[in-house]
Amino acid sequence: MAQIEVGILGATGAVGQQFIALLARHPWFKVTWLGASQRSEGKPYREATAWRLPTPQPDDVSKLTVEQAAPGHAPKLVFSGLDSSVAGEIEGAFARAGHLVISNSKNYRMDTTVPLLIPEINADHLKLLDAQQAARGWAGRIVTNPNCSVIALTMALAPLRQFGLRTAMVTTLQAISGAGYPGVASWDILGNVVPFIDGEEEKFQPETQKILGQFKGGAVEPHPVVVSATTTRVPVQNGHTVSVSAKFDQKVTPDALINAFNCFRGRPQELQLPSAPPQPVVYLQERNRPQPALDANRDGGMTVSVGRLRACPVLDFKFVALGHNTIRGAAGAAILNAELMHREGIL
Ligand SMILES: NC(=O)c1ccc[n+]([C@@H]2O[C@H](COP(=O)([O-])OP(=O)(O)OC[C@H]3O[C@@H](n4cnc5c(N)ncnc54)[C@H](OP(=O)(O)O)[C@@H]3O)[C@@H](O)[C@H]2O)c1
Repeated sequence: MAQIEVGILGATGAVGQQFIALLARHPWFKVTWLGASQRSEGKPYREATAWRLPTPQPDDVSKLTVEQAAPGHAPKLVFSGLDSSVAGEIEGAFARAGHLVISNSKNYRMDTTVPLLIPEINADHLKLLDAQQAARGWAGRIVTNPNCSVIALTMALAPLRQFGLRTAMVTTLQAISGAGYPGVASWDILGNVVPFIDGEEEKFQPETQKILGQFKGGAVEPHPVVVSATTTRVPVQNGHTVSVSAKFDQKVTPDALINAFNCFRGRPQELQLPSAPPQPVVYLQERNRPQPALDANRDGGMTVSVGRLRACPVLDFKFVALGHNTIRGAAGAAILNAELMHREGIL
């Protein structure tokens, strides 16, 4: 099968690098175009980027010249790991020019015609694209990934919707790679916890409600769950941990919750998409798991690990969830979105 050419906007950043690593041996997609800021433009990729991943930089991508982040020469399908300060304008320009942009940035997530896609949870939200071109007047389209911690949270909450999910109280412990590169100064994070991430907590309720919402009558009806979040940055390299207390309408047992986590499957597993983990949510029985150092890379970083389920004296139950922020929370999630769109005939 001929490979589909793809471009990467923000190719030099933490998420951009993860795209390049994950696409190195992808069966369907081949990276042929890279875009970043003026700082990188015109340089070979190997010089433009501070490669932070443990796998070697793929030779064919190392030699590519980083181009201006503007439509013109890029392939039709473009993954974006652009900084949010510029993503709105640049991704919009690519969509206007006819590209399909799969974005990791916050700028278009809450647009009512833009899917906030997690293929296991809301593959049918791709139907929003029917309205997008008419509403926006774009020749192309934009599909978004949720915030990286919200992905770990909603992957754990989606199996629990069946019990009448009402409320979730959430505290995150987010890795430093979530702040991009060079990210948080070592002086600020070594031996420390920073109890504030600018603009992060505000994303939790609206994004969770949209992701878990139902597609009805041409729009997404938000799920009624109320979410309260505290977000912190911790000295962990990769993997966002989320501590969750939840309340349900129905009486539910721990066994029923664990069974729901472990049995959760979605469209990617049904279609056997190349990046789909066989079991997207895994409940770990060990009493001291999940841990980022041990569990973030499960199934290539695409599985969300859950553990420590116990009764909550304030709400009903509490547990801990963990997801790899630059894989399941960003580049891997965007690639899974593209795989779903390809198999659904949307690319
Ligand atoms: N890190 C994560 O875990 C994570 C997870 C989910 C979502 N996200 C989101 O993904 C996006 C990228 O995050 P990141 O962590 O990869 O950030 P990053 O490491 O700071 O990378 C940002 C990228 O944007 C490019 N860029 C900056 N200004 C630009 C401009 N004026 N024109 C064109 N390109 C420009 C940079 O290019 P240069 O190198 O040339 O400056 C770089 O490639 C952000 O919106 C972030 O919120 C991140």
